[in-house]
Amino acid sequence: MNKNLLITGCAGFIGSHTVMEAVSSGYVVFGIDNLERTYDPSLKDIRVKELGKLKNFEFIHQDINDKYLINKIIDEKKIDCVINLAAKAGVRKSVLHPYEYYQTNLLNTLNILEILKANKNIKLIQASTSSVYGNTEGKFNESNTSINQISPYASSKKSVEDLCYVYSQIHGIRTTILRFFTVYGPFGRPDMSIFRFIHWIYEGKTVKINGDGDQKRDFTYVTDVVKGILNSTKSEWEYEIINIGSDNPYSINYVIDLIENYFGMESKKFFGPRDPSDIGSTQASIDKAKILLNWSPDTSLKDGIINTCKWYEENNYWTKNLEFS
Ligand SMILES: NC(=O)c1ccc[n+]([C@@H]2O[C@H](COP(=O)([O-])OP(=O)(O)OC[C@H]3O[C@@H](n4cnc5c(N)ncnc54)[C@H](O)[C@@H]3O)[C@@H](O)[C@H]2O)c1
Repeated sequence: MNKNLLITGCAGFIGSHTVMEAVSSGYVVFGIDNLERTYDPSLKDIRVKELGKLKNFEFIHQDINDKYLINKIIDEKKIDCVINLAAKAGVRKSVLHPYEYYQTNLLNTLNILEILKANKNIKLIQASTSSVYGNTEGKFNESNTSINQISPYASSKKSVEDLCYVYSQIHGIRTTILRFFTVYGPFGRPDMSIFRFIHWIYEGKTVKINGDGDQKRDFTYVTDVVKGILNSTKSEWEYEIINIGSDNPYSINYVIDLIENYFGMESKKFFGPRDPSDIGSTQASIDKAKILLNWSPDTSLKDGIINTCKWYEENNYWTKNLEFS
């Protein structure tokens, strides 16, 4: 087992869940995050406070653009595996801030790769996204190479996949690229649909929907995603791209129905124009994850929504004050 993990983006949604599960599975975890302000930073402060209660976890408040520092951590903490989750996430904001997205998602990963080329025994798990498939028809399959990204976010992630491939080939860095599909769950991101819908419905606000709400997403529960990440630490291959998704897409309107049913409330809805960077429908082919990672999702959308609504309700003394702009 790879004992010492470096998890970048540890104060983020997926990062904080990964740290918690990794520590309880016996790993020693070092987490880096710069606590940037893409969404309400108070949420990251709360996650970091929760993580601070864990034994075998150390939080390092730093930017991964600092190559010297990352090298020092990897060396001193005897890191066996780097899980690179730090990123500027979110499709729509990337259209407005493309430089920040390419800098963080592509060039900062180059720092990590440059360090790992001198430490070939250290594995890399790199977060990617279903967005790299663009408007592909049918199930998204990793072997499909004719894919067209339609946002700077998606393009930055496809570019980082290619960069990792180059480093695996010329420097022998053992790399797993995980393409996550619309992740949701407790402590989620307030810039993502499910958390926003829960907030708007529970707080009696108008639910804003981009388009007619018939677009489908392969929503994937966060603990399932974490299981995929931790299973990847045991990999031995040179380079693989693996989808982590539910293979069971549902429409935005159906998600809203589930949330309304849970709270017993009906919301007022506003259907705005469809965003041009929005993909019509996403669905993961997960055959590769089943074979290579012994992975398949355990949580149905209904159960995942119930858990997330319950968490929102129980924490409403602070979740109600989060910024959802
Ligand atoms: N949530 C999803 O549905 C989803 C889907 C596909 C892919 N992903 C990918 O998974 C990863 C985690 O996503 P998330 O949803 O947890 O996002 P998140 O924004 O909650 O987490 C990312 C974290 O990275 C940190 N960060 C950003 N730039 C940094 C830098 N330069 N140095 C140090 N820390 C930095 C941020 O402060 C944040 O805490 C990202 O790579 C994202 O692109 C997420």
